[in-house]
Formats: sequence, structure tokens, C-alpha cells
Amino acid sequence: MAFTWGVSTAAYQIEGGVTEGGRGPSIWDVFSHEPGRIADGRTGDGACDHWHRYREDVDLMAGLGVDAYRFSIAWPRIQPDGTGPANAAGVDFYDRLVDALLAKGIDPVATLFHWDLPQALEDKGGWLSRDTAFRFADYAGLVADALGDRVRLWITLNEPFIHMTLGYATGEHAPGQTLLFGALPVAHHQLLGHGLAVATLRARGAGAVAVTNNYSPVWAASDSEEDAAAAAAYHALHNRFFTDPLLGRDYPDLGLDPSVVRDGDLDTISAPLDALGVNYYNPTSVRAPSTPDSPLPFEFVPLSGYPTTAFGWPVVPDGLRELLVWLKEEYGETLPPIHVTESGCAYDGIDDPERVAYLDGHIAAMRAAVASGVDVRGYFVWSLLDNFEWAEGYTKRFGLVHVDYETQVRTPKTSYAWYRDLIRASR
Ligand code: FCB
Repeated sequence: MAFTWGVSTAAYQIEGGVTEGGRGPSIWDVFSHEPGRIADGRTGDGACDHWHRYREDVDLMAGLGVDAYRFSIAWPRIQPDGTGPANAAGVDFYDRLVDALLAKGIDPVATLFHWDLPQALEDKGGWLSRDTAFRFADYAGLVADALGDRVRLWITLNEPFIHMTLGYATGEHAPGQTLLFGALPVAHHQLLGHGLAVATLRARGAGAVAVTNNYSPVWAASDSEEDAAAAAAYHALHNRFFTDPLLGRDYPDLGLDPSVVRDGDLDTISAPLDALGVNYYNPTSVRAPSTPDSPLPFEFVPLSGYPTTAFGWPVVPDGLRELLVWLKEEYGETLPPIHVTESGCAYDGIDDPERVAYLDGHIAAMRAAVASGVDVRGYFVWSLLDNFEWAEGYTKRFGLVHVDYETQVRTPKTSYAWYRDLIRASR
């Protein structure tokens, strides 16, 4: 099977048109409108206006020559208040998008949940509520009925760890809750929703199914036993908590209330997958907490000695090789084939040699993992376009294509031409 080269985006980050086509409000609409939540005080209301300009964006993808496009479907476009029948105008948008992609020979890869929960479901407890998992499976069924004949790969959830942590534990993302370890049920309910959605997609004969996790090699800040223990705890939370149950194990012991996990849940969650999506940005360095009454068993330490992106994130290409090899060593035969579903960096400028170097390094690291026996089938750059970077607003630019948010003019960057040439040369 040929290797898949792609690009990724997410609905709330690019679509705009938030009140059009009968779309209901999501937690991100509410959150981004609250004062002080977003770095530049802006919202995803307009974003890249992809809702109106998707054809131009598909043309940009065709110009790149990508095999596949990973986009997300906005749940509140399909079910404006999170339950009930499909909203025809919302379905119609993704229907037209999928057909436009196929007409250019680009495989649609659809993520069902990239963090934009209908606000009506948040009002009933969001992912803290077990019921949301069942609502998610209903939504998956509606989307499968509409697009299941044409989407090549389904990704149920995007980065459930990041959604739990920033959304429910520390509050930098919607819905802005600050429950620390009290957020752990959000992990289980998302994974249960994933498992139920897999069953629904399979029952509808909807093609290949995957889930995307965020992974980060965790490095202890020193050789001390205390720092090693802190690193093990953070590794269990970031990397294993969202992978062990998918691949047939129980949760690592981090204090999840056992009554949250009901009989049969782990079987539902561990339904066989066709692929695992891996998002990688950087390793994490941790040490033991510096105060005895710290609410967390670890503390983050900035990694020194590496170049950083405009986000301040360290550039460590070999971390991608390290985590791919770890996945294979840890999970062995139970590990499905991998797609790197996000890899990319924030830098300003249309001439962006730093992004070229970043992608070049990460693709080389991925190839090194493949050479050592890891089954990686695809690589998707985050992102096609500069877009609304969550709590950072429009201040961090991840695109291969520059977007002028005043005029919506798209300008391919140096990295766009570089990626196009790489894809061409690999054929
Ligand atoms: C990931 C998200 C994606 C984007 C990148 C930079 O965690 O999945 O939406 O914001 O980070």
C-alpha cells in the first residue's frame, strides 16, 4: 500500500460561518467570547471563512498533491443542540466538501470530534456525564449515514488527553473547568464514546476507523529517583491512560474512581481499530513537585538546549522516532498501523525556512522509526492553513498557506512548495 501524505485542519479553527447553515453553539463559541480567555481577544467566528471558501482550499490541497485531507466535522452543524435528527444544511456542507475532495483525487479523512462539543450537551455535564458518550455514538451514526460511502478513514476523537487536560483539568481551553485529577472521568467517557462510535460505524459499514492521540516522550529532568517517579506518573497520564484501554488493558492506576468504569465498558473501548492516529509536537521534561502539598505528582521543566518555535515549543525531531518506537515496543502485536495525523510548527512569515527544516527533520525521524520496524502508513502536516489556534487566537501560524485574516487572501508559503516537491519526489 502506498504511503499517504496529507494535511490536517479542524472545523472550529478554520470554518467560521458559526451562525450559518443552522449551526448551534459549541463550547468553543461560548468560551472564546468570554473576556480574557483568548490571547488576542478574538474568536473563531470568522476564522478562515472555509465555510464559504472550501473550494479554494481544496484547490490548494490539489496543488500540493496530497493523497488525503484530515478535516473535522462540527458536531453542532450536524446536531445543533447535540441530539435529534441531522440538520440538512450541516450535512450538505460536508457532503459537498467530500465530493470536491474526491473530484480532485484526495481521500477524505474525517475526525468526528475535534473539541467543539454542542453547548447544549455541556450544559448537561459535557464529557463529565456518561450520557455524552451515547450522544456521541448517535451523532457518529448520522454522519456515517450521510458520508460513510465516501470517507476513507474515520477518526473518532482528536487528542482526548488534551481535551480532558486543558478543557476540564486546568481550564485553558473550553469548557474552562479546573478540576485537576477530578477530570479523569472525562477520559473514560470520551473513550467510551469512541468505543460506542466504532460499533456504530462498523454496523453502518462505514470504512476504516481510528482514533487520534497526542503523544509526548516524557523525560525526567534529572537522574534522581524522585524525578524518575514524577516522569513515570506523567507518562502514565499523557501516553498510557489513553492507549492502554484502547489496546485491551485496564487503565493505569491514577486514581480514576472505579465506579465510573462499568461492566463491559473496557470491551467496548478496546474494539479492534484499523489504525492509530499519532499527533506529536514535542517531548515533555518533568521533575518531582517542589512543594510537598502540590496537587500534582509532577512539575514541568522547560527543555533547554533546543531551538524553539514561535510558540516556544522545543524542536526535537527525534522525539517522534522515540515515541513511535516506544509504541511498538510497549504494545507489540496489539498496536494497529500508525498514521501521524498531526506534525507541524508555529512560525511567522511567508518565507518559512524554519518550517521546512522542522518538517524535514520530523519526516526523517518518522522514516527512521519505519526503518526500525514501526508500521507507519501516513503523515499529515498540521496545518494546511494558518488558523484559530485555540487559546492563542490568531497569534500562532501553523499553516503551509498564509492567511490574511482581514482579506482572507491565501498565500502559499515556502514550505508549501517544499512539501509539494517532497510528495512528488516520493512517487
Ligand atoms: C493540537 C491540536 C490542533 C492544533 C495543534 C497545534 O493539539 O489537535 O488542533 O491546535 O495542536
